[in-house]
Amino acid sequence: MRTQVAIIGGGPSGLLLSQLLHRKGIDTVVLERKTKDYVLGRIRAGILETGFVDLMRKAGVSDRMDKECFVHDGTVISFGDTEFGINFKELTGRNVVVYGQTEVTRDLYEAREAMDGKIVFNTENVHIHDVDRDAPYVSYTVDGIEHRIECDYVAGCDGFHGVSRQTIPLTVRKEYEKLYPFGWLGILSETPPVHDELIYAGSERGFALCSMRNSNLSRYYIQCSLSDAPEDWTDAAFWEELKRRIPGKYAEQLVTGPSIEKSIAPLRSFVTEPMRWGRLFLCGDAAHIVPPTGAKGLNTAASDIHYLYNALQQVYEEGDSEGIDRYSERALARIWKAERFSWSTTNLLHSFPEQSAFDLKMQKADVHFLRDNREAQSVFAQNYVGLPY
Ligand code: FAD
Ligand code: DHB
Repeated sequence: MRTQVAIIGGGPSGLLLSQLLHRKGIDTVVLERKTKDYVLGRIRAGILETGFVDLMRKAGVSDRMDKECFVHDGTVISFGDTEFGINFKELTGRNVVVYGQTEVTRDLYEAREAMDGKIVFNTENVHIHDVDRDAPYVSYTVDGIEHRIECDYVAGCDGFHGVSRQTIPLTVRKEYEKLYPFGWLGILSETPPVHDELIYAGSERGFALCSMRNSNLSRYYIQCSLSDAPEDWTDAAFWEELKRRIPGKYAEQLVTGPSIEKSIAPLRSFVTEPMRWGRLFLCGDAAHIVPPTGAKGLNTAASDIHYLYNALQQVYEEGDSEGIDRYSERALARIWKAERFSWSTTNLLHSFPEQSAFDLKMQKADVHFLRDNREAQSVFAQNYVGLPY
C-alpha cells in the first residue's frame, strides 16, 4: 500500500490530522493498535480551548460540538476558606468549552468513516523505517499477517507509550521529565454538576476538581496516593473526601450517586526534543505530557496538529518546506509554555508529601495573590483559554 502521510495512532491527534489533510486532498492511512470501541471507552479530557474548537470547525466536524458543548466564561478557584472566580471572558475576551474527548473522538471517527478514510485497527509490531532517507515506510502486522505502507511522511500520534518517539535515536533525542508524588482519582457519575463552572480546589487534604460533561454527567477528581488503586476507593469514600476538599457551600449542594467509571492517572511533566526527525513528526502525547491541572493535555496535542497540518499543506501545495523545517521549533515554543502553566497550577493547588509549614504558607500566599491581583488573574486566564498558535 502507498499513501502520502502514514499516521501512527487513532487517538484525537491522529484522527484530527487525518481528517484535516483529507479535506485538502492529501491521502493518509491511520494505524491504530486497539479497536475503535476501546479508544472510545477511554474517559479523558473535558475542556477545549477555542483554538481546538476552530480546528474541529476547519475539519468539518463541529456540528454536534457546536450544539451540545457548554461555553465556560470563567472558573472557580478555592483553597480552604478562600474562594474566588477568574473571569476569562472579561480578562481575555475569550472562553473555553466543555466537550469531552470521547465525543471529539467519536465525531472524528464518524467523519473519517463518512469520507472512506483508511483506518486500520488492531495493528501490532508497528515499525517505522527510513524516515532519515527519502523513501520511508511503515511495517505492521494484523492477525499475524505482515503489511507495509510506503509514504512521504510519518506522523507519530501514538501517545506516550507508542513506537514513534522511540524511533528517534538517543543520540538525537533529549527527554525532560518530572514525576509528581501523587495521582488523580477520577470518577464519572450520572448526576448534575455541583456548579455551572469548574471548581479547582486546593486544600490541606489535597487537590480536588469538580468538572462535568453535560447537565446530567459530572466528572470529579481528587488527588490520591500513587500507591492507591481505584478499587481501594468506594464511591462513598470518594464523595466524602471530595466534600472535605471543596468549599462548604458546594459540599452541601453536591448531588452524589454511583460512579460509572473510576480510574487513577499518575501526574507527569514530559517533553521530548526535537519533535521532528527527518520525515517523522511527533504530535501530542507521543512528544509531551502535562499534569492535568489546567486541562492542557489534549489542547497541546491540537496545537501540534495545527502546525503540522499547515506545514504539510505548504509542502504539498506550494513545494515549500519552511513549515516542516520549523515544525519542531514552533510546536515546542508553545508546548513549553503550556508545560510551565500546568506545572505551576499543579504546584499551586496540590498537597506535597514533604511540604513544610513554611511551604504551605507560600502556597496560600500564591493563592491570595492570584485572588487579589487582576494582572495575575489575567496571566492565568490567558494561559487557561490557550496561548495563540
Ligand atoms: P492518545 O489519546 O494517547 O492516542 C494515541 C493512540 O495511539 C491511542 O489510541 C493508542 O492506542 C495508539 N497507539 C499507541 N501505540 C501505538 C502503536 N504502536 N501503533 C498504533 N497505535 C498505537 N488531558 C486533559 O486535558 N484532561 C484530562 O483530564 C486528562 N486525563 C487523562 C487521563 C489519562 C489516563 C491519560 C493517559 C491522559 C489524560 N489526559 C487528559 C491527556 C489527554 O487525554 C491526552 O493529551 C490526549 O489523549 C492526547 O491525544 P493523542 O492523540 O496525542 O494521544
Ligand atoms: C477536566 C480535566 C482537567 O484536567 C481539567 O483541568 C479540567 C477538566 C475534565 O476531565 O473534565
